[in-house]
Amino acid sequence: MRVVRTSSDLKEGLAPWRRAGERIGLVPTMGALHAGHMALVAAARGECRRVVATIFVNPKQFAPNEDLASYPRPEAADLEILQSAGVELAYLPTADEMYPPHFSTMVRVGGLSEGLCGAHRLGHFDGVATVVTKLLIQSLPDCAYFGEKDYQQLLVIRRLVRDLDLPIRIVGVPTVREPDGLALSSRNLYLSAQERRVAPELSRVLRDVATALEREPGAVRRETERGLAELTHAGFDVEYLEIRDAESLAPVRDLVTAAARVLAAVHLGRTRLIDNVPVASSPATARRG
Ligand code: PAF
Repeated sequence: MRVVRTSSDLKEGLAPWRRAGERIGLVPTMGALHAGHMALVAAARGECRRVVATIFVNPKQFAPNEDLASYPRPEAADLEILQSAGVELAYLPTADEMYPPHFSTMVRVGGLSEGLCGAHRLGHFDGVATVVTKLLIQSLPDCAYFGEKDYQQLLVIRRLVRDLDLPIRIVGVPTVREPDGLALSSRNLYLSAQERRVAPELSRVLRDVATALEREPGAVRRETERGLAELTHAGFDVEYLEIRDAESLAPVRDLVTAAARVLAAVHLGRTRLIDNVPVASSPATARRG
């Protein structure tokens, strides 16, 4: 596996593959790799002849009070993981390479970026949209792979690719979970043993809410309130639990056809956890509130 740190070396590494007409898949990450990232690499390998991964802890997507300084950066272990997963090119730019002096352009996806996590992490999705746009333009892959665990991020990226006419297919990959249901996340490393025991309650409550809504699509308000109460009772400090249209993220009052998603963000001690699950749709029309 070749490791490059500048966008010109990245282009040089990609050039022969592009000349040969080989399909290229991109897996952008912030490192601290786990099986969730490996599912992205596996999906890319399944569809593309060549796979490129990026590792960049993007300062622009962290608010001043967040964990940029302490975010785990196990570079050597990450590179070994990528290499053994069959990645052939790893791009690890520095912050100066991505944001040279006088960098002043931001990509902002209106609407989709504003509620849910966007309401609690101001500027976060502008930082994500900006770095992902740059990574996509620098590498111009055929396909790029993102996890459904960051569901709002996935929709923001799909929208920016469509709006900016980037000729790249965005592929969403289902969340990988621990056997007890906890969604894999680099931030799970922050959990104490006691918090780790509580953490799977998040996915359990989301699944219960989704199952109740599949049986009773009109019960959005009741299930939202029940979900919130159960999360609080389990010991989470809840940022939000919402039931939203799975494509537009618009609030839904009752779900009759439209695919919906139950999404939540919580704090457990100093760790912020997010998760989301689909609600299977049923046969009539959803009325959006
Ligand atoms: O999901 C992530 O790891 C990051 O938000 C991403 C997409 C790599 C952009 O920094």
